[in-house]
Amino acid sequence: MKLSTFGWLFAGAVIVASAASAADGSAIYDANCAMCHKVLKPKTGDKAAWAPLIAQGVDTLTATTIKGKGMMPPKGGKANLSDADIKAAVQFMVDKSK
Ligand code: HEC
Repeated sequence: MKLSTFGWLFAGAVIVASAASAADGSAIYDANCAMCHKVLKPKTGDKAAWAPLIAQGVDTLTATTIKGKGMMPPKGGKANLSDADIKAAVQFMVDKSK
C-alpha cells in the first residue's frame, strides 16, 4: 500500500519534470521572470501596461526579451534559456495580462 503510493508520487514527479523541459511557459516564467515581473513594470497581469506591448505581437516581445531592454538583461539574465523557452514565457505573460 505504502509502496504503491510512493510509485504514484514518483510517476507524478517525472511527468511534472518532463513538462517543464518542454517549454512550459508557466514554469519558465515562475523560475526566471516572476521575481522581476511581479514587482516591476510591466507587471504580469497589469492590463494597461501590457495593452500596447501585446499590440506589438508575441514575436516582437520575444525578440525584445532575447536582446534585453532597459533594466532587463538579455533573456532576463538567463542565457541558458532557449529562444523557444523565452517565447513560451512571453506567451504566458501575455495570456495573463489580457
Ligand atoms: C532583472 C529583472 C527582470 C527579469 C529577470 C526579467 N525581466 Fe522582463 N523586464 C524587466 C524590466 C525592468 C522591463 C521594462 C524594460 C523597459 O521598458 O525599459 C522588462 C520588460 C519586459 C517585456 C516588455 C518588453 C518591451 O518591449 O517593452 C517583456 C515581454 C519581458 N520583460 C519579458 C520577460 C521574460 C519572458 C522574462 C523571463 C525569461 C523576463 N522578462 C525577465 C525586468 C526583468
